[in-house]
Amino acid sequence: MRLENKVAIVTGAASGFGEGIAHRFAQEGCAVIAADINDEACEAVASAINDVGGRAMAVHCDVTARADVAGAVQRAQSEFGPLTTMVNNAGMPQRNQSMLEVDEDTFDRIFAVNVKSIYIAALEAVPHLRENGGGTIINTASTAALSPRPGLTWYNGSKGAAVTLTKSMAVELAPDNVRVNALCPVAGETPMLAEFLGGQVTNEMRDKFVSTVPIGRLSTATDIANAALFLASDEAEFITGVCLEVDGGRCI
Ligand SMILES: NC(=O)c1ccc[n+]([C@@H]2O[C@H](COP(=O)([O-])OP(=O)(O)OC[C@H]3O[C@@H](n4cnc5c(N)ncnc54)[C@H](O)[C@@H]3O)[C@@H](O)[C@H]2O)c1
Repeated sequence: MRLENKVAIVTGAASGFGEGIAHRFAQEGCAVIAADINDEACEAVASAINDVGGRAMAVHCDVTARADVAGAVQRAQSEFGPLTTMVNNAGMPQRNQSMLEVDEDTFDRIFAVNVKSIYIAALEAVPHLRENGGGTIINTASTAALSPRPGLTWYNGSKGAAVTLTKSMAVELAPDNVRVNALCPVAGETPMLAEFLGGQVTNEMRDKFVSTVPIGRLSTATDIANAALFLASDEAEFITGVCLEVDGGRCI
């Protein structure tokens, strides 16, 4: 068991990459708070984990609301014990369109869900991680931060912020034995994909995108979960401030 005695909060756990991370962590012995705004789907993820002998609990949590995040941390510690791992994975996409067509409310929401959430999670989780002798934070960024493409400008910028925050938090929290790393997935088959491709995914669009990925496919929740598992495990005890491309070579 690679995450024995660990207690994690995974945001955005009701779907896609977060769901994959929650399952993979639980398989490796981690107790998981599945945190999301989609309560029904989140409950289903937690139940599926518990049904196969894992330990999980669904908690309603809007990552932009400090009280919700505080509640998730409190729940993790009261149900499962000292928090060790915070996975800031919930995200909001930008529909592929001209940068000038994105309205202000959408811009604010993208930055609230993708960037402010990292700040709020730090405020609520870091004091406990310090108190508990250390821990790990994993932020889901994107290849969009490293190799930005047109049509996703504000989303790209939000993920760029996630990358810089990861590195800055890593240096500031290293003395507390808190490691901070990011995942940079390439496009994956989740409900978010349609937004990135302009509203719908045709076979032609998928094939065109896949042709830019040297390994020749999109990412899967399993790819992202396996990378998160490594970063969350003690095998990565000397790794901090890394923004790991999980992208089949797309960013080369
Ligand atoms: N799918 C891709 O192509 C891709 C590529 C690179 C990075 N990412 C990033 O991966 C992460 C996960 O995305 P996904 O592809 O699994 O998408 P998804 O749509 O399958 O899942 C996102 C989850 O986040 C939840 N969520 C949204 N806003 C929330 C909020 N305010 N508070 C709590 N939960 C909220 C949703 O309810 C949903 O369950 C995101 O940060 C995304 O930006 C996705």
